[in-house]
Amino acid sequence: MKTLIVVSGGDAPGINAAIAHFAMLATAHGDTVVGAVGGFEGALAGHIAPIKPVLIIPWASRGGSYLQSSRKPVLAEPTARAQFITLLDNHQIDNLLVMGGDGTQRIVAPLLADWGVPYIGIPTTIDNDVPGTDLTVGFDSACNFAQQTIDNLLMVAYSLPGRIYTVETLGGHTGFIALSVALAAGAQVVLIPEFDYTNEWLTQRLRDVVTRDNYALVVLSEGIAASSTIAQDIRAWTGMYCRDTRLGHGQRGTSPSHQDRLLASRMARVAYEALRDGEKAGMTVTRNGQVTLHAGAITALPARTPDRALYNFVNGL
Ligand code: F6P
Repeated sequence: MKTLIVVSGGDAPGINAAIAHFAMLATAHGDTVVGAVGGFEGALAGHIAPIKPVLIIPWASRGGSYLQSSRKPVLAEPTARAQFITLLDNHQIDNLLVMGGDGTQRIVAPLLADWGVPYIGIPTTIDNDVPGTDLTVGFDSACNFAQQTIDNLLMVAYSLPGRIYTVETLGGHTGFIALSVALAAGAQVVLIPEFDYTNEWLTQRLRDVVTRDNYALVVLSEGIAASSTIAQDIRAWTGMYCRDTRLGHGQRGTSPSHQDRLLASRMARVAYEALRDGEKAGMTVTRNGQVTLHAGAITALPARTPDRALYNFVNGL
């Protein structure tokens, strides 16, 4: 069996562990693994590189992606199908392992099945917003990165009472990272795109919290409408000192946590076995701690939504 690994869309901590584990398994069984350099765009341009476990294993401890990615939707182009099938024929590739987030798993990878190209996906994104799985590879590491910054901020907040701190996480148009981190850090306010709030409520909540706790910590997802002005707005509304921290892409490039490396390895194993078994389409998922295969495309699965009860708890609602 010869498998082409493609990393598509944003990188995520743990991708390298998945590539390494898949390559180790395949090589041990006498199979061959090659990788696209530059996502589907690179693949279509013929940028296919051999993957040797000994070269990739040291990368398992690093964030980012050993196989460079691309966000260009090249498979949607009219000539893509014929080009791609010719490429697979020329390189005698039997199937694909596709790593990527929501867009890749819901929209891009299922195109391969329509073209008769067998693929298995591994959901890799810090956002944790891929339908069908409780966790995506990268989420835990991104939360840990945020947690460390917030833990340091809390020491400062305790030491100099009367201040408000806002921390913006990545997450795109979703709030899974922000909510999870806010809950674990004991933040008194969390703002995420999925649930609305009013400025009046926020102002009163912050006044009450600073009176009660001597400081306030607001965790917000980059996807809320007010993310770019939130700290200055809070200063204007409350009259209190308020400082802003933005985690940015440093959060995405962080080293993978043990949990993410483990999840990546377990998913790589399930993906390898599915491809060996001749599955035509599917995505690895984790549900209640078990890593299994969701056979078929995930396109029709319902979108995930953050837990409203946890949101209400953090915000004192
Ligand atoms: O989807 C993962 C993610 O890191 C989001 O959290 C973020 O909004 C987005 O990618 C950033 O994308 P880019 O790296 O293209 O700016």
